[in-house]
Amino acid sequence: MWLKYLIFLAGASLFRTETVDKVSSDYWSWRLSISREFSTSIGTYKYNDRLDSYTYEKLEDMKVEVDGFLKRLTLVNSSSLVGEKLISFKVLKEILENVRDGYEWKDYQPLNPINFLELWFYGLDIFVSAQPFDTEGDFVNYVRRIEEGPRQIEEMINLSRRAIANGHTSHNASVSRVPGNIDDMVKPPNESALYSPLKKDNASAILGKNANICPKRALVSG
Ligand SMILES: *[C@@H]1O[C@H](CO)[C@@H](O)[C@H](O)[C@H]1NC(C)=O
Ligand SMILES: *[C@@H]1O[C@H](CO)[C@@H](O)[C@H](O)[C@H]1NC(C)=O
Ligand SMILES: *[C@@H]1O[C@H](CO)[C@@H](O)[C@H](O)[C@H]1NC(C)=O
Ligand SMILES: *[C@@H]1O[C@H](CO)[C@@H](O)[C@H](O)[C@H]1NC(C)=O
Ligand SMILES: *[C@@H]1O[C@H](CO)[C@@H](O)[C@H](O)[C@H]1NC(C)=O
Repeated sequence: MWLKYLIFLAGASLFRTETVDKVSSDYWSWRLSISREFSTSIGTYKYNDRLDSYTYEKLEDMKVEVDGFLKRLTLVNSSSLVGEKLISFKVLKEILENVRDGYEWKDYQPLNPINFLELWFYGLDIFVSAQPFDTEGDFVNYVRRIEEGPRQIEEMINLSRRAIANGHTSHNASVSRVPGNIDDMVKPPNESALYSPLKKDNASAILGKNANICPKRALVSG
């Protein structure tokens, strides 16, 4: 029984074939799944109702995933590759190795997502302008997404606390303007930039009979 099992295992790994296309495509799907806001920006709307995660655990998960993709790449017979496939193989391997090697530095930049040039801390207009508002579903996704805001910001605060404890924060020049930027965003919900999409002329036409529900949820989140 054991012998049979071992033979099966050996066989499975010897004959398991991976192709550059398959690994690339799985890598890309995974990359989008953890980069939800980026996905929206390139027109992939699968994650439009969610925000990115900023947990410390995510950094560990990324390492595990990337190691898995690198392992799969070793099963690709690279000596049979030519032209574009060979280039894809090399580029993908390089990207994955860079992420893997970057893990060593995870307690530096990745723990400091807060600065005056990015994300919520730059201002809300950029966030809003990155979302689509063409269908009723877009509005529903948008409201769900901003409902996740407090959770995401708490995760960022938690990462920042870790950075402070480690003594590796961003320079004052990167963060000194953040409190002022945040103060500027604190407004009555109906005057917030986050609410602005619901005030657009075409919003009520798109929302139709649900025109009252989304604005109410947006006001509560805002
Ligand atoms: C890898 O590809 C080369 C060139 O096509 C071929 O000669 C070799 O047998 C392949 N190796 C395996 C393990 O399939
Ligand atoms: C609604 O208006 C915005 C600009 O105000 C535009 O970007 C969007 O495409 C419009 N949507 C529809 C469905 O007309
Ligand atoms: C932030 O850290 C606190 C204390 O460890 C924890 O209770 C809380 O769940 C964390 N928040 C998020 C959103 O991860
Ligand atoms: C950080 O920069 C601000 C604005 O330039 C300045 O007022 C503040 O004193 C600086 N804080 C530290 C600790 O250097
Ligand atoms: C926002 O709501 C407040 C209180 O309901 C109201 O006084 C104010 O005029 C509203 N502002 C806008 C821009 O609609």
